[in-house]
Amino acid sequence: MTKYIFANWKENKNLEEALGEVRQLRRLLVGKNLFQKKLVLLPPAVFLVPLLKEVRKFDPPVELGAQDISLFREGAHTGEIAARMVRGIATYALLGHSERRKSFNETSEVVNQKIKICQEFHLIPLVCLGSPKELEELRFDSRIDPVFICYEDPSFIGRGEVKKVEEIISFVRKARERFPGSPFRFIYGGSVDEKNAGALLAEDRIDGLLVGHTSLAASRLEQILRL
Ligand code: PGA
Repeated sequence: MTKYIFANWKENKNLEEALGEVRQLRRLLVGKNLFQKKLVLLPPAVFLVPLLKEVRKFDPPVELGAQDISLFREGAHTGEIAARMVRGIATYALLGHSERRKSFNETSEVVNQKIKICQEFHLIPLVCLGSPKELEELRFDSRIDPVFICYEDPSFIGRGEVKKVEEIISFVRKARERFPGSPFRFIYGGSVDEKNAGALLAEDRIDGLLVGHTSLAASRLEQILRL
């Protein structure tokens, strides 16, 4: 079964550092067995285009995702990046991360509208949900496959320990009960590193990991990919 590793760089790196990390990662991964892992880089939007050329050199291929998309399809919205601009460069869009919900007042309604736009423009949504309440408020078109759900309790971000596997599985179960038959893939996020990733990846019901600060160092990301 394919396991997805999403590297969420957040608001880090300049162009030189971004290119440097990706090139270093490629050197580290040459000839290595990744045991059916798929890497998706989520760099700041300004690096998506320069990184596209670099990620195409990987074998197996590495994909790109945006860390967010605009709430609007296009038009007079200064500073925003629309799904249709990202489409063709990135495959995925991270939506509803708790940092956006908190610092930019993104409500579940806003997140749902972004999911709708992603699905319309054929970007795969990776929707972060931090609580059963946010799960309850989720809306999407279940006919469009896949929808990636990242269970990430904000209190576990940058904390140094991950949630208990049983708690993650219990969330997965709740999501399956709430939206039966939906085309979900389940990702766990929050303090994932090269030491705790193995146990999480060993669990069948977890399809992958969202990796924050650990993904900023190619050597640490490489260790997760080789597990
Ligand atoms: P962390 O961040 O891995 O640094 O805890 C995860 C995230 O917020 O996506």
